[in-house]
Amino acid sequence: MSTGTEKQTCENLSRRNLLKGAVLGVAGTAAVASGGWALSEAQAKSCPALKWPWPYEKLDPAKTAEIAHDEYYRLECGASLIYSVFSQLAEKIGDPYASFPVEAFAFLGAGVDTWGTICGANSGENIVTNLIIGPKTNGVELGRLMGSEIMQWYCDTALPDYVPKVSKVKAEIPKTVSSSPLCHVSVGVWMAAAKKPLGSPERKERCARVTASVAYKTVELLNAWKDGKYVTKGVFPAKLYHIDAQGNCDQCHGTNVPSPPMPEKTVKS
Ligand code: HEC
Repeated sequence: MSTGTEKQTCENLSRRNLLKGAVLGVAGTAAVASGGWALSEAQAKSCPALKWPWPYEKLDPAKTAEIAHDEYYRLECGASLIYSVFSQLAEKIGDPYASFPVEAFAFLGAGVDTWGTICGANSGENIVTNLIIGPKTNGVELGRLMGSEIMQWYCDTALPDYVPKVSKVKAEIPKTVSSSPLCHVSVGVWMAAAKKPLGSPERKERCARVTASVAYKTVELLNAWKDGKYVTKGVFPAKLYHIDAQGNCDQCHGTNVPSPPMPEKTVKS
């Protein structure tokens, strides 16, 4: 019975389900309702979602890209990137991936609720790399650095560089270099080059392929990391520019890029 004050922690959930199972003799049934909390016995046993980092097994980058491409049409960029990795890990590993509510991340699409801020493929890959690689270890935030490396690659690469097996569009999809991790800039530069409006099938297919391209890259780097061969190329821009920023300063500021106030130097005489 729920006391009404007990917190929903994994420890409590497991204990309560064990008790309930012992009393009712239902241990082994698929789902047990416990004081209003319904969860599977497998979840109750270990509650893996609360353990961070999450386990990883190597995936096929091309298969991941295919899933990301196809699911874009259901989930948009951010959630389809997450789905492309997590749905496969759910099959191989189970929880926490099996319980992850990927659909809740559809809001990442179109640069968060269509505001054109960060491209959802970039936020999606950061969610994936950070959940899998985990917290700062020995002073190094490797998950964030991998995220940053992929964002820099996104800025510098002619995208989309992935062509799916089955395309929704027959016409060739042009590639463009965004120089920016932003949805607005990335999509805008492409729309200008392709002369296609936002609602066109070509623009949607382009974003589906960009998501697939980023999914491919993400799994490539995660596989290298799993093999112990990943040496990050990621940097935090603030270290370079003394302001949290994208590297494409002139795209917004033109030729007159302002300098942020600098930290005071300790001058040795
Ligand atoms: C996506 C567009 C964009 C990019 C890219 C960008 N900025 Fe800005 N930045 C702005 C806007 C808008 C402001 C608000 C103030 C303004 O209009 O100058 C601003 C403000 C600033 C400020 C503080 C206000 C001032 O005028 O002194 C500094 C310093 C600055 N940016 C430096 C940079 C540097 C350095 C880079 C590249 C590493 C950069 N910015 C990249 C859009 C951008």
